[in-house]
Amino acid sequence: MKQMTIGMLGCGNVGSGVYTLLEDMRPTIGHRNHLDIQVKKILVRDLSKRREGIPAEKLTANPEDILGDGEISLVIECMGGEEPATTLMAQALRRGKTVVTANKMAIALNWHILQAAALEGGAGLHFEASVCGAVPVIRTLSESMQANRVTQVMGIVNGTTNYILSKMTDEMRPYSEVLQEAQALGLAEPDPASDVGGYDAAYKLSILSSLAFHARIPYEHIHREGIEQVQVRDIAAGKDLGYRLKLLAIGKRQGDTVDVRVHPAFVPETHPLASVGGAFNAVFLHGHACGDMMLYGRGAGSLPTAGAILSDTVHALSHPEPDYPSFENTSHLHPSLTVTDNWQSAFYLRLCAQDKPGVLGHITTKLGEHDVSISSILQRKSEGDSGVPVIVITHRAHEKSLQAALQAIDPAIARVESVLRVEGVE
Ligand SMILES: NC(=O)c1ccc[n+]([C@@H]2O[C@H](COP(=O)([O-])OP(=O)(O)OC[C@H]3O[C@@H](n4cnc5c(N)ncnc54)[C@H](OP(=O)(O)O)[C@@H]3O)[C@@H](O)[C@H]2O)c1
Repeated sequence: MKQMTIGMLGCGNVGSGVYTLLEDMRPTIGHRNHLDIQVKKILVRDLSKRREGIPAEKLTANPEDILGDGEISLVIECMGGEEPATTLMAQALRRGKTVVTANKMAIALNWHILQAAALEGGAGLHFEASVCGAVPVIRTLSESMQANRVTQVMGIVNGTTNYILSKMTDEMRPYSEVLQEAQALGLAEPDPASDVGGYDAAYKLSILSSLAFHARIPYEHIHREGIEQVQVRDIAAGKDLGYRLKLLAIGKRQGDTVDVRVHPAFVPETHPLASVGGAFNAVFLHGHACGDMMLYGRGAGSLPTAGAILSDTVHALSHPEPDYPSFENTSHLHPSLTVTDNWQSAFYLRLCAQDKPGVLGHITTKLGEHDVSISSILQRKSEGDSGVPVIVITHRAHEKSLQAALQAIDPAIARVESVLRVEGVE
């Protein structure tokens, strides 16, 4: 049995789960992997906080008790945030300590700094838990899909927004009401901006698309829209037409052009992502050799996340030679790639039109003049003086063509009230 001594940075939701799961799995890991993993020290902010099941003598508020301890060969980081997490991880790596982290923000923003520190110290850097918690998408992309050219990664990578959109869809309740309920249940943060604004999903997409396309796709290049403006009447209209609304993280590669974006989008109810409900996560991948593939599971929570962290820990301690992504890990986009803002998708449009002849003709003409062809058009019951709702689903078109067509529609004839993209259609 190999004795391994590790340290932890952070003992909150995820950190306490890591400690508990390690205690639970110690005999199994000993039996299967011949490792006896002991946590020597755990960094926290507040030493006086009550922490069930965590021995008080292991806690410290001084990072040097971990980083400066020569016996500690691996550090698990679960404190979160960009700083001081990035600086502490970089220090650990430079001193030759392998780092396992759940921190998507630190990896998305500072991966190049952390990888350089890991190379300098000859240490490993592992981050399976940083994207989709228990779902093994990092290892799938970095190991299992090496013989594929991945052309698409499309996922529901944020459980909070998926819970909110699923509730709005199932119960036809407005966004603000469902958000408040999610906050009361602890499923959304008191400050929900990172989740509902799509920032969390964009960090994760930066990591996923970099691994999928073998080139660093910096976070700043990701187009991001949140779910704050989503209206339940659009969810209802989409549902009637056989679509479900999801916050999608989408990365597509065609030749040397990539499009990377986070926004709400309809998917057909027959698409595998449509049935991913509640706080679950899923990532849909397409490789030229493997075809379509989907990974599904719990994207957050103390034990699911701890499971991914401990798996990385066992892997790192059993494989002393560290692996690094093969691409050049820089802060900027690789010069051979272009990120486009003129991607293609289908569109859902809701317009409020005058109730008189020729209105539908005006809408279809303006769309047609800009190469946007219509898959279906539906005029709904008049809403009195305010006009007639018209729902249009287009075929796939370029984003800029669609925007130009919408500009050309005379607002005195038909006012554009809602535009949502539709993914997962040919
Ligand atoms: N929660 C999830 O389901 C989930 C899922 C996947 C990934 N993650 C990621 O996991 C990480 C941790 O999340 P969490 O939910 O466990 O957070 P959390 O509950 O807020 O825990 C953070 C821990 O870090 C400690 N800490 C924070 N700043 C510190 C500082 N400056 N110095 C010393 N200690 C500090 C805190 O100490 P005190 O206890 O003393 O305050 C606490 O123990 C984040 O990167 C998050 O994105 C979380």
